[in-house]
Amino acid sequence: MSLTFDRRVVLVTGAGGGLGKEYALAFAERGASVVVNDLGADSKGGGKSSAAADKVVDEIKAKGGKAVANYDSVEDGEKLVQAALDAFGRIDIVVNNAGILRDRSFIRTSDLDWDLIHRVHLRGSFLVTRAAWNHMKKQKFGRIIMTASAAGIYGNFGQANYSAAKLGLLGLSNTLAIEGRKYNIHCNTIAPVAGSRLTETVMPPDLVAALKPEYVAPMVLWLCHEQCQENGGLFEVGAGWIGKLRWERTQGGITRQRNQPMTPEAVRDQWDKVCDFTDATKPTSVQESLQSIVSVLSKVESGQDVDAGPTSAPAASSTSGINPTAAVGQKLPPTTFSFSHTQCILYALGVGMSTKDPDHLRFLYEGHPDFGCLPTFGVIPSQAAMMDGGLSSLPGLKIDLTQVLHGEQYLELYKSLPTSGQLTSEATIADILDKGSGAVILLEVNTYSGDELLCFNQFSVFVVGAGGFGGKRTSEKAKPLVPPPQRAPDVVLVDSTTNDQAALYRLSGDWNPLHIDPSFAAMGGFQAPILHGLCSFGFAARHVLKQFAGNDPGRFKAIKVRFVKPVMPGQSLQTEMWKEGSRVHIQCKVKETGAVVLSGAYVDLHETAETSQCLPQAEGDLQSELVFAEIGRRIQDSGGELVKKVNAVFGWEITKDGKNVAEWTIDLKNGSGALHRGAYGGKTDVTFTASDEDFMEVVQGKLNPQKAFFSGKLKIRGNVMLGQKLEVILKDHARL
Ligand code: NAI
Repeated sequence: MSLTFDRRVVLVTGAGGGLGKEYALAFAERGASVVVNDLGADSKGGGKSSAAADKVVDEIKAKGGKAVANYDSVEDGEKLVQAALDAFGRIDIVVNNAGILRDRSFIRTSDLDWDLIHRVHLRGSFLVTRAAWNHMKKQKFGRIIMTASAAGIYGNFGQANYSAAKLGLLGLSNTLAIEGRKYNIHCNTIAPVAGSRLTETVMPPDLVAALKPEYVAPMVLWLCHEQCQENGGLFEVGAGWIGKLRWERTQGGITRQRNQPMTPEAVRDQWDKVCDFTDATKPTSVQESLQSIVSVLSKVESGQDVDAGPTSAPAASSTSGINPTAAVGQKLPPTTFSFSHTQCILYALGVGMSTKDPDHLRFLYEGHPDFGCLPTFGVIPSQAAMMDGGLSSLPGLKIDLTQVLHGEQYLELYKSLPTSGQLTSEATIADILDKGSGAVILLEVNTYSGDELLCFNQFSVFVVGAGGFGGKRTSEKAKPLVPPPQRAPDVVLVDSTTNDQAALYRLSGDWNPLHIDPSFAAMGGFQAPILHGLCSFGFAARHVLKQFAGNDPGRFKAIKVRFVKPVMPGQSLQTEMWKEGSRVHIQCKVKETGAVVLSGAYVDLHETAETSQCLPQAEGDLQSELVFAEIGRRIQDSGGELVKKVNAVFGWEITKDGKNVAEWTIDLKNGSGALHRGAYGGKTDVTFTASDEDFMEVVQGKLNPQKAFFSGKLKIRGNVMLGQKLEVILKDHARL
């Protein structure tokens, strides 16, 4: 689809000629209403004329476009924006383009040369942009272009004044990008190259003719379109080529030792290291820049990574504090985790379960007959090892915990999780991979209840900047990710997270301030605290459990996910699912943005041995017969225990095609209990009537008895409250 600007109002400064004129024409051609600003000065900033702007407006109008002229200097920023408001009622886009040159060698640069250049370029762009800012903020849309220059980026003889102002514009743009982000105001900087009256004095005429402004304008239009999410970028553009620039920083060298003064000699001796761009990093924010500088404080204290100078042993070639030979196979001290149903319920709420959904109640209400723990709760007891910061205490693992990211997670359950108890977890460093830009630590955790192994977790932990230690890139121990099938998903479930989702989820034990503290999140380069990856993981897993396993935690076997992008609390999670045998492939996206947040993921389910597909068929027509036979056997096996527990007589009438076809009585009141077939002489406390099919649905947990009752599928006479007890018996004793 072509990019249009139909309802947009654009202000282009210095649009009477050169690049600005080209922008104005291009915006107008694509439907924008354009304010063509130009003072009509000469190239050094002298003189004034309305002719330049008028000509461009005439040209736009002649082509059927919408434009008005404005002849004020950019130093009257308010007036330019007012012109847009007067003519078109709003302002959406500002292209700060007006410019002059007063080239002089540095020593001959007068105060006026310096001031004029700064007033037009830097101060003019500031004043025009400030005048537009609040309008953009209110309408939650704005696109701003700053025009820098290669002279500013690289320096250029005779352009001290101009270079300084041009790079000043980049600084301005960088900060506006940060301040505007949450209002959808984006600010980007271009360093164009085009033939114009500014360049005709420095470029040969054929180059001036060849480097057409129309090879720059489309870039400006794209950056100003609502579809473009670029913000805070710096681009060189000319001749139809566009390149993006960013900062690069050497690994650097520490020139100071604990309890010793820093000396110029130490700086000199480290100079090669300070300037060596091998393995350079690319910081993108003040926070990133600061973080690594602050981390030096603890490095110096611990004597880590400090080159002690020529008299000591040579420093290791890598700055990574990872030594796989020492670390792999190391165990962390075992951790214990005590919990009751409270933690299970809190976790279920944390991963978005709600009483709004009746089938969530079994995970939210401890009195529910099927009350159980969500399978993904299995990550909670095991993460204590990570939370305690134990990782960095192991030999061969000198890592900066602020640089740790959760990359992937695998969880396998060997039993359904209990809803209370004390569990022990043992964590081992299974392997360490060298990914160049970082290291991946595979941490495996076995969680036990007493001697019984309950579950296994494999955490893939990415440590930014810790790579380069010469290790292997892959490991056969890593649980692999599996891409989903090529077809459209079989099922898609969407669930919204609440604004407090992370605040709630963290109560399950992940106390990282990144998920609650705005200033901490900002340090990590996030606009706001982000949702825990393992919270999205919990959402996705329960979507699978609901869709493909009737919410039965016993069916859950394993899950693997990769965490790709953060989710902000309040966004909606969309789980796409593909069923392939007992494996359900999943991909999770943020619905609002379409960004994939969990990838290569799957849930493995146990085959449905205990459900209908595998139930032995009754000899006669009735499936319920087998279930009653099993109940009878269990009653005998219990040796009277059930009678003590239940103390009631239950009657069952099974119907088929609306007719009573079988009667059963489960006597758990008299003697050691008994099952009667056919008419029962004694009195039942409660009698249930259901069709053979509905009875089976209830027994298999597919149909909730309460629901069955309210929908009329299950009729009850007598003491209705006893229904609760019956459900327990059926569930525990009818599983074949
Ligand atoms: P140009 O001289 O053709 O256009 C600049 C326009 O700004 C002129 O029409 C002028 O009247 C207007 N202007 C000057 N002072 C003004 C003021 N106070 N208020 C309102 N309008 C004013 O130059 P060109 O080449 O089109 O340059 C556009 C921008 O691109 C400038 O900011 C320039 O520094 C920048 N640039 C251009 C390069 C090139 O290769 N053409 C290279 C690097 C940067």
